[in-house]
Amino acid sequence: IVRPLVLGLESSCDDTAAALVDAAGTIHSSLVAGQNDDHAPYGGVVPEIAARAHSDRLTPLVGQALAEAGVGLADLDAVAATAGPGLIGGVMVGLVTGKALAYAAGKPLIAVNHLEGHALSPRLSEPSLDFPYLLLLVSGGHTQLLRVEGPGSYKRLATTIDDAAGEAFDKSAKILGLGYPGGPAIETLAREGDDGAVALPRPLAGSSEPHFSFAGLKSAVLRAANATPPPDPADLAASFQRAAADCLVDRSRKALDASPGVTAFVVAGGVAANQTIRSALTGLASEFDLPLVAPPLALCTDNAAMIAWAGIERFPAGEFDGLDVPARARWPL
Ligand code: KG4
Ligand code: ZN
Repeated sequence: IVRPLVLGLESSCDDTAAALVDAAGTIHSSLVAGQNDDHAPYGGVVPEIAARAHSDRLTPLVGQALAEAGVGLADLDAVAATAGPGLIGGVMVGLVTGKALAYAAGKPLIAVNHLEGHALSPRLSEPSLDFPYLLLLVSGGHTQLLRVEGPGSYKRLATTIDDAAGEAFDKSAKILGLGYPGGPAIETLAREGDDGAVALPRPLAGSSEPHFSFAGLKSAVLRAANATPPPDPADLAASFQRAAADCLVDRSRKALDASPGVTAFVVAGGVAANQTIRSALTGLASEFDLPLVAPPLALCTDNAAMIAWAGIERFPAGEFDGLDVPARARWPL
């Protein structure tokens, strides 16, 4: 173990997670208990159900993570817990658990911004990745472009003015009668379709501000699905996926234009699992002679290793938090 050894906790959306990571970037354990089955009947995350599931599962999961790593509370150097942004009930469960463990162990607490966890996670899988880099964070809750300059130093270049990209996948999947989460279902169906078959808009494409918008795209999918005769579902899925990829590329190009001197174009979040989107972004990175860095999927989607790692990045500066630090539903980086 290379000190500090940090316990990370994550519970801001629909994944309950606990992990032990050390300063060498070794992940001693990383457990994620998802809730897809709990929320699937509703086609999206239900906050109350999520909070209860976190409350039931987080403490046993911590015990399991410690056991798997072969360490006890006394071996920790700090406890890092997500303190926002996210669904407040879940955030409260994770943060209060983190406070209690830090207090019991007599170790410092680090209240981590969930977005900071995503922003720094690429350095956990890619230790040679240097600041500054441009990060495209695309998940069910976020669609942002961040210039990451160092721990605690982030410039938000763009965010979505309505839905997140993953939300557009999930809502479009619901329109198509596919299951939740919708992203993987759309990707699978799209393989059988023609991505030029249904004309769909590219919201904000070409606009001088790098912001994102996906609500209009989702509405266009709904209109197309209700047309007579309706399009082939696979064609609609493929056309939607192509439009979403085009939007992400167009907006990211704008941000890369405005962001000279970055070492890499980094993509993280659940939507980064999509192969069509990944290859489109690889093409964009090469336009700028930059490598595309995408953390392995387990680090891309919500997990606690990234929260522990953010704690490790902040540890040397002694940036610890009091036991009265608040849980925050909204917390821009
Ligand atoms: O990062 P994540 O696991 O959780 C948060 O939202 O924070 O991302 C989940 C989102 C969901 O909206 C899901 O539909 C989307 O990522 N997603 C995908 C794919 N896999 C997951 N979207 C498109 N293609 C995929 N293969
Ligand atoms: Zn996330």
